Amino acid sequence: MYPVKRSGQRLILREIAVADIDAVFAIYGSEEATEHLSFEPRTRAQVGEIVARSVASAAAEPRTEYALVVVERATEDPIGFGRVALDPHQQRGATFGFALRSDAWGVGYGLETVKLLLGFGFDELGLHRIWGARSPLNAASARTMAAAGMTEEGTIREHILKAGQWRDSVVHSMLDSEWATIAPVSA
Ligand SMILES: CC(C)(COP(=O)(O)OP(=O)(O)OC[C@H]1O[C@@H](n2cnc3c(N)ncnc32)[C@H](O)[C@@H]1OP(=O)(O)O)[C@@H](O)C(=O)NCCC(=O)NCCS
Repeated sequence: MYPVKRSGQRLILREIAVADIDAVFAIYGSEEATEHLSFEPRTRAQVGEIVARSVASAAAEPRTEYALVVVERATEDPIGFGRVALDPHQQRGATFGFALRSDAWGVGYGLETVKLLLGFGFDELGLHRIWGARSPLNAASARTMAAAGMTEEGTIREHILKAGQWRDSVVHSMLDSEWATIAPVSA
């Protein structure tokens, strides 16, 4: 499926492009935004490689990765990044992730982003199950996924190696039957 575009009340999800390197670097290069993510802040060169790989993955056949930029409709500012990746060994399952630039936090954009990603996965990809893994200390992510109607499932022990330390992850998920009971955000 290409190109992906989903519209919410205040945000749009669209395909990532090479021109988005600085927008992604503003998140992936930031200590604050990556505090609870699975990796330490990236350099601009590393972000350039990630964006290039993401752009290339959109052309894969079959496509298994959807790297999407979150754009504020009013300003056209690319304020965030979202990703849906099909589970290689499960039927109609995918993991997802999301991150916003820190100056865009706290006004409901995280919740809208999660709903747009879930809507894309269930409505357009026909997925059965979407799940995300967060750091146990990531209260903002926990609240955001809960507010979107996702269920906290449990802990994957010592899932992530970050800065030389193993870290647990907490899994949240939603099923297509649950999504069907939730009011859509996209037009
Ligand atoms: C997680 C993230 C996307 C949340 O975005 P946001 O726009 O600030 O979230 P929203 O304003 O939509 O708030 C959604 C819910 O989270 C709560 N929340 C937001 N920030 C919070 C915080 N720091 N601590 C506790 N709760 C928080 C809000 O109160 C709201 O809950 P409610 O509906 O019960 O009131 C943002 O903090 C972020 O990009 N963090 C860095 C990357 C990251 O951690 N991504 C998730 C990886 S699993």
